[in-house]
Amino acid sequence: MNRPAWHYDELRHSGVDYSDPSQVAVYDERHKRFRDYRREAEAVIERLGVRLEDTVLDMGAGTGAFALHAAPLCRTVYAVDVSRAMLEYCRGQAAARDLKNIVFRQGGFLTYAHTADPVDFIVSSGALHHLPDFWKYIGLRRLARILKPGGRLYLFDIVFPGGEEDLRGQMEAWIGSMKEEAGDTFAAEVETHIRDEHSTYDWIMEGMLERAGFRIDQADYADGFRASYLCTNRN
Ligand SMILES: C[S@@+](CC[C@H](N)C(=O)[O-])C[C@H]1O[C@@H](n2cnc3c(N)ncnc32)[C@H](O)[C@@H]1O
Repeated sequence: MNRPAWHYDELRHSGVDYSDPSQVAVYDERHKRFRDYRREAEAVIERLGVRLEDTVLDMGAGTGAFALHAAPLCRTVYAVDVSRAMLEYCRGQAAARDLKNIVFRQGGFLTYAHTADPVDFIVSSGALHHLPDFWKYIGLRRLARILKPGGRLYLFDIVFPGGEEDLRGQMEAWIGSMKEEAGDTFAAEVETHIRDEHSTYDWIMEGMLERAGFRIDQADYADGFRASYLCTNRN
C-alpha cells in the first residue's frame, strides 16, 4: 500500500532494535530469567476462554512466547511482527515442536492486512509501546476491525501510573528489581525502554482502548507498571 510521507514507519524500531538478529538471539535467554512463557500463555488462554476451534492473532509475537504455547490449544494462531528476525526465530521454534497451525506474517499494528475472516481473539504483549500515542490509537482501531464483534482482546504492556507522586522513585525501584531478577543488561534495557520507547500513562491507555471501541472488562496493574487489560470488542 502507498503510504504518505508523514506516515509513521513502524519497521524502524525505537529503543531496543528487534530487527537486529543479535537481539533475537539473546531475547529468550534474558526473558526466561523472570518469565515462564508456558504459564503466562496458558493463563491468558484461560482468562480469554479460548477453545480448540478458535482463531487467535498475536500482534508483536516476537520469539513466540504466547504463540508457541497457544497453538496446541486453538485452531489457528496468526503470529504477526514487524521484525523478520523475530518471526524467523519463532518459525524455527514452531518447526522444532512440529506445530503446523501458526500462520507467520510480517507486519504491525499499522500495516498488517488481515485477509482471512475476523479472528475470535487478539493477544498483544509488550509491543504497543513501540508506537507513539497518536499511532497507538490508530493501531488499536485497526485491531478492532480484525477482531470479531464481541471478540476479546488481551493487551499487556508497560504503562506509567498517572496518579503516582514519586514516579522517579518508583521507576528506580522497578529498575533495581529487574537488575536483581534478570541482570544488568536487562536493567539497562528497562532504562532504554523508559527513555526511548513510548510507554504511556495508565489513564491514556484506558481512554484509548475505550475510544477504539473496546470495553475494558478487567484492568490489572502489577507493581504499577505491568498493565494487563482484558477487553471485549464493542464494535
Ligand atoms: C518486547 S517484544 C515482545 C514479544 C512477545 N510478544 C513477548 O511477549 O515476548 C516486542 C515485539 O514487538 C515487535 N514490534 C515492535 N513494533 C511493532 C509494531 N509496530 N507492530 C507489531 N509489532 C511490533 C518487536 O519486533 C518485538 O518482537
